[in-house]
Amino acid sequence: MLLANIGQLLTLRSPGKGTGPRRAHELNDVGIVEDAAVLCDGGKILAAGKSRDVLRHPARKKLKSVEEIDCQNKVVLPGFIDSHTHLIFAAPRLLDFEKRINGATYEEIAQAGGGIASSAAAVRKAPVKTLAQRALATLQDMASSGTTTVEAKSGYGLSVEAEIKSLEAIQQAAKAWPGTVVPTLLGAHVLPKEFQGKPQRYLREVCEKMIPQAAQRKLAAFVDIFYERGAFTLEDCEQVFEAATGHGLGVRAHACQFSDAEIWPLLRFHPASLDHMDCINSEDIPQLERRDTVVTLLPGSNYFLGLEKFPPARTLIDAGVPVALATDYNPGTSPTGNMQFILSLACTHMKMTPAEAIAGATINGAHALRLAERKGSVEPGKDADLAVFEVEDYREIAYWVADNRCSATILNGSPQE
Ligand code: NIG
Ligand code: FE
Repeated sequence: MLLANIGQLLTLRSPGKGTGPRRAHELNDVGIVEDAAVLCDGGKILAAGKSRDVLRHPARKKLKSVEEIDCQNKVVLPGFIDSHTHLIFAAPRLLDFEKRINGATYEEIAQAGGGIASSAAAVRKAPVKTLAQRALATLQDMASSGTTTVEAKSGYGLSVEAEIKSLEAIQQAAKAWPGTVVPTLLGAHVLPKEFQGKPQRYLREVCEKMIPQAAQRKLAAFVDIFYERGAFTLEDCEQVFEAATGHGLGVRAHACQFSDAEIWPLLRFHPASLDHMDCINSEDIPQLERRDTVVTLLPGSNYFLGLEKFPPARTLIDAGVPVALATDYNPGTSPTGNMQFILSLACTHMKMTPAEAIAGATINGAHALRLAERKGSVEPGKDADLAVFEVEDYREIAYWVADNRCSATILNGSPQE
């Protein structure tokens, strides 16, 4: 396949020798090539760059037939990597939505029995097939707005059976979708009602049953935990991370979303990412410099909860912390799977430049999932994950608000329009 007549190709290729996540000024270097083309075969990128070079590339002559997509001078990016989504749930949370409109906060609603725990009843009842179909429809929607890789969490089952069922639903949906899905077990999302006052008993379910089963059946690549007052403590995180790493799974955490919390004891587990981080204490930020743990910022939740404050992107970037952007797609705090909207929020509310936002949504998202060897940039040898946008300048992707400018997506070499 040849993507021809690209007005601006954002390659996101590495500006230097470094292979780690982008930080500081590196986030602004999106590797723009004008008048460009991309040649792909067998789900991989063979060549990318100036049209005249790609058209003359020896690999092109060797291909028997080449399907050509005319990009009409528009913009092409590596497909978005949505590195934080709660893909599996059964229903929207409209009661919570109305309670917040009437003045209740997210944490007050959770304490009163709404919130995450209230999503569990419906997931426990739902057949795996229903959950998988819903997830597949969401993945297709995400692809239509430019996303080609999705991290997908369980976390609304809150029992061994319902968490494993959620991971099975992710696996079924992933098999039917041409993009890439990275499954994460989030059994430690909140304490389910039947374990109230008995956190240790529930954590034993997570560590001694969910994690071993998910690892053995290869249903998860990562284990996540909600580290927050009202959810799980630092000691709980250490216990869950110990179990996860013991079973060969990667770790990541929701941290500092509503309150500041100690981060450094978790760094010895080399978390792939720490997510939200709105309330990180500025004195703790230096601990995250020069590390490969990516801080994933999720402004969709600030927007939907109607918060005044947004994640401290500038402080983190200026300190040299690698940041990524993701949707946090979920029924409680961020019911959107559209990465273009997240870019808009990052620019308007977090003062990231459009280039920084795109780097955060592509190459650094790939690093947050430990997939950067295969994904996140348009370079020979990488997976053919691309998104075409109906704009003339890449900055428009973040400029047009609540709009979908994506006109085509290529997922592991398969086009979807
Ligand atoms: O990332 N904070 C924890 N998890 C989600 C919210 C989940 C929910 O409210 O259903 C988040 O914002
Ligand atoms: Fe989340």
